[in-house]
Amino acid sequence: MPVIIIVGAQWGDEGKGKIVDMLGEKSDMIIRFSGGDNAGHTVINDLGTFKLHLIPSGIFHKNTKCVIGNGVVINPEILIAEKKSLNDWGITTDNLIVSDKAHLVMPYHLLLDKLEEKARGKKSVGTTLRGIGPAFVDKVARVGIRAGDLQDLEGLKERLELVVKQKNCMIVGMYGATPVSFEELYDKCVQWAQVICPMIRETTIMADEVIKNGGNVLLEGAQGALLDPDFGTYPYTTSSSPLAAGACLGSGIAPTRVDQVVGIFKVYCTRVGSGPFPTELFDEIGDIIRDKAQEYGTTTGRPRRIGWFDGVAAAHSARVNGMTSAILTRLDILDILPKIRICTAYDLDGKVLHRFLSDVASLEKIKPIYEEFDGWLSDTTKITTYEDLPQKARIFIERLQDIIGCSISMACVGPSRAQAIKKDKKFF
Ligand code: IMP
Repeated sequence: MPVIIIVGAQWGDEGKGKIVDMLGEKSDMIIRFSGGDNAGHTVINDLGTFKLHLIPSGIFHKNTKCVIGNGVVINPEILIAEKKSLNDWGITTDNLIVSDKAHLVMPYHLLLDKLEEKARGKKSVGTTLRGIGPAFVDKVARVGIRAGDLQDLEGLKERLELVVKQKNCMIVGMYGATPVSFEELYDKCVQWAQVICPMIRETTIMADEVIKNGGNVLLEGAQGALLDPDFGTYPYTTSSSPLAAGACLGSGIAPTRVDQVVGIFKVYCTRVGSGPFPTELFDEIGDIIRDKAQEYGTTTGRPRRIGWFDGVAAAHSARVNGMTSAILTRLDILDILPKIRICTAYDLDGKVLHRFLSDVASLEKIKPIYEEFDGWLSDTTKITTYEDLPQKARIFIERLQDIIGCSISMACVGPSRAQAIKKDKKFF
């Protein structure tokens, strides 16, 4: 398993944390490559239940180097709190490395995220309010502050002063809000530097050496393909690419070094925040799934919107990611449903379409065309082999495999590491 990219294949929250935790055991290095603390990964293992936002889910394997890559934006307060809480549990973070090129989410980014969302009114994106969009805006506008800048506090002073002036023009001039204080911010940087600087490294050479020595590298995605700013439901998207291509940019590992791209799909869909969701369920089935699966945001606590598996979106996601295999999560949630649906096409004004649409107006208009399956109505949570799954569950999985268009290597039937049924034995 040399270089593997793990990507979310839907609108995020597919259960990537569990898969990274499982594969992490065999990895020499894990690199988070996009997003920030808008992501939330729940990891349940022998040590307990952990909700991580920034630190890679592989942190529990102490011999695995865990890198927060250059493509991530880091809120230093969150990173420091997350590190401390793991340490308080007796979990070492000596294996945690921060890329010198990762940008920082500053307090003015959080404030601007809130002010911008409010200004959008009914058209708000429903962001996590973690300052992610404004931080990526600054990265591209070349006014961002990077982790590496904390290593030169004198140099940072001059740059930060200028940026704060600029931000206050917006905060006060556009939104009439209270300006941020440069002095308070600079003091914070000095405090952050003490904890974060010892973890900062140039990480691309380190990754290259692991690969050259035949080591295993896992690139850990955040969010999902349908939140990609280019290939998702723009403008209802996040601000960095959750795709496999984003993994290369966000880690400094070139595409030619990557061996596998594994897409993680829930067997139904969820979405948090605003934006089109073609298969959304507004009836009691949605409520049943939400309650059984406890579909509430790890980061925001918001109830997630629930829908049937969208096969059109799934095929799009598999294609733009170049998936070599897929993993299904939360199969057990469907154990109690007598009928299960998969959307296999869209009806747009009477025309049947088999491709995902890039414009939100059309996506909001389409009617999903479904295939219906009999539910298996039995408990799958203790099943350990594919052959032992009920035949109706296998029929459903085989159909998902056809639709996604690549081999399904595993189906998860519960949150623990053991509740994972391997299908394609070549993968592990
Ligand atoms: P932002 O990334 O906080 O700017 O939010 C932009 C959109 O992406 C919103 O609809 C969020 O709900 C969604 N989003 C961001 N992170 C996640 C995630 O980890 N899981 C699911 N949705 C997310």
